[in-house]
Amino acid sequence: MIRPIFFVLAFAAYSAYALQCHQVTAGNLSIPDTSQRQECMVGALTCLKVVDYSRGTYTKQCQAMNCTQGGVQNSAAGCTNTSAFGVNGATCCCYGDGCNSAPQTGLITAFGITTALVSLVKFMA
Ligand SMILES: *[C@@H]1O[C@H](CO)[C@@H](O)[C@H](O)[C@H]1NC(C)=O
Ligand SMILES: *[C@@H]1O[C@H](CO)[C@@H](O)[C@H](O)[C@H]1NC(C)=O
Ligand SMILES: *[C@@H]1O[C@H](CO)[C@@H](O)[C@H](O)[C@H]1NC(C)=O
Repeated sequence: MIRPIFFVLAFAAYSAYALQCHQVTAGNLSIPDTSQRQECMVGALTCLKVVDYSRGTYTKQCQAMNCTQGGVQNSAAGCTNTSAFGVNGATCCCYGDGCNSAPQTGLITAFGITTALVSLVKFMA
C-alpha cells in the first residue's frame, strides 16, 4: 500500500511551510494577473480572491480563516457569486499554495487535478 503513505508525506511536507497566496490589492480583470505568489502571514489558512464584475476589478489575499460555504467550514473550495448593493461579484476561497492564481483557471486547474486524481485512484483500484 504505497498510496496512503504518499498522501501522508505530501501533507506533512505541505504543512511544514507557510502558506503562499497570490496577493493583489487592486487587480484589473482585463489585464492578466502576473503576480507571483507570496508567503502569507503566520496563521493564514486559505487564499482568497474577491472579484467585482461590475467594476472589473479583483483582489487576492491570504485569509486566516477556513473556507466556508453556506456557513459550513472546510467546504470544498469554490467561488460563490454574490450580488449585493448592486455589485455583482464572486468570492473564491481555496486551500493550497498559489491556489488563487488566475481569475478563472486556478479553480479549473484545482478541479482538473482533483478529477485526474480521482480517475487515477479509480483506475488503480
Ligand atoms: C482595466 O484595464 C482596461 C484596459 O487597459 C482599462 O480600459 C480599464 O479602464 C481598466 N479598469 C480599471 C477598473 O482600472
Ligand atoms: C480550520 O479548520 C481546522 C480543521 O477543521 C480547525 O482545526 C481549525 O481550528 C479551523 N480554524 C479556524 C480559524 O476556523
Ligand atoms: C457568476 O457570475 C459570473 C459573472 O456574472 C458568471 O459568468 C458565472 O457563470 C457565475 N457563476 C455561478 C456559479 O453562478
